[in-house]
Amino acid sequence: MLRTSVAKKMAMAVSGLFLVTFILLHLSINLTLLWPGREVFEKAVHFMGTNLFIRIMEPILFLGFIFHIAMGIYLEWQNRKNRPVKYEKYNGSAVASWASRNMIWTGLFVLFFLLVHFYNYYVPFRYGKVESHYDLVTGLFASPVYTLLYVLAFTGLGIHLSHGFQSAFQSLGAPRENCYKFLRCLGNIIAWLVGLGFSLIALYFYFQHLK
Ligand code: HEM
Repeated sequence: MLRTSVAKKMAMAVSGLFLVTFILLHLSINLTLLWPGREVFEKAVHFMGTNLFIRIMEPILFLGFIFHIAMGIYLEWQNRKNRPVKYEKYNGSAVASWASRNMIWTGLFVLFFLLVHFYNYYVPFRYGKVESHYDLVTGLFASPVYTLLYVLAFTGLGIHLSHGFQSAFQSLGAPRENCYKFLRCLGNIIAWLVGLGFSLIALYFYFQHLK
């Protein structure tokens, strides 16, 4: 099924949009760290850890990540091999934007952060004895290095999405004339929300620790 490059692009788009829904859900939960605060965040994490639907979705999410990363690396390798006859990355202008030309690098940087995050948060969350998830998450921002990495990673993800979101719809065949402006605008809103939202949380708690 994935033999043609169009099918591969479509699969890439579906996996990317699946990850977008995950990251928006993740952001909405993390924002409860700022408001209303500890109690609601603990409840939300408990819900995520015990809800049957979420538990079923968890391995699917892992597979989605693995697929997206593997396919992203493969498509990039194919692009490099076939240059200068590179398949089109439409972004509305003759010159591809910086974000569209560097999807692999922003993606690999996000991947590096994901591995750090997995080790620092997911492993103790799933397999350790965590008294308070609020303390675990906010405690990580006591480290300036972790906070900086966090902010850079979500800035990278914001850049990834500023091109990726609308590109995914182009891959799925959304008509350029009618939808392009709207999708680009929505993609930029999501990119800013993700980049700024996660970064503000990290910076807020970092400065709280300095007090
Ligand atoms: C939460 C994390 C991520 C989200 C939400 C995300 C989202 C997206 C979206 C929506 C696209 C557009 C798909 C298309 O053009 O049809 C995309 C493309 C891409 N992603 Fe990601 N991505 C994430 C992480 C990663 C990671 C970790 C990598 C690591 C290699 C990566 C590599 C790529 C590449 C190379 C492309 C461009 C593929 C191409 O058009 O040639 N992404 N991503």
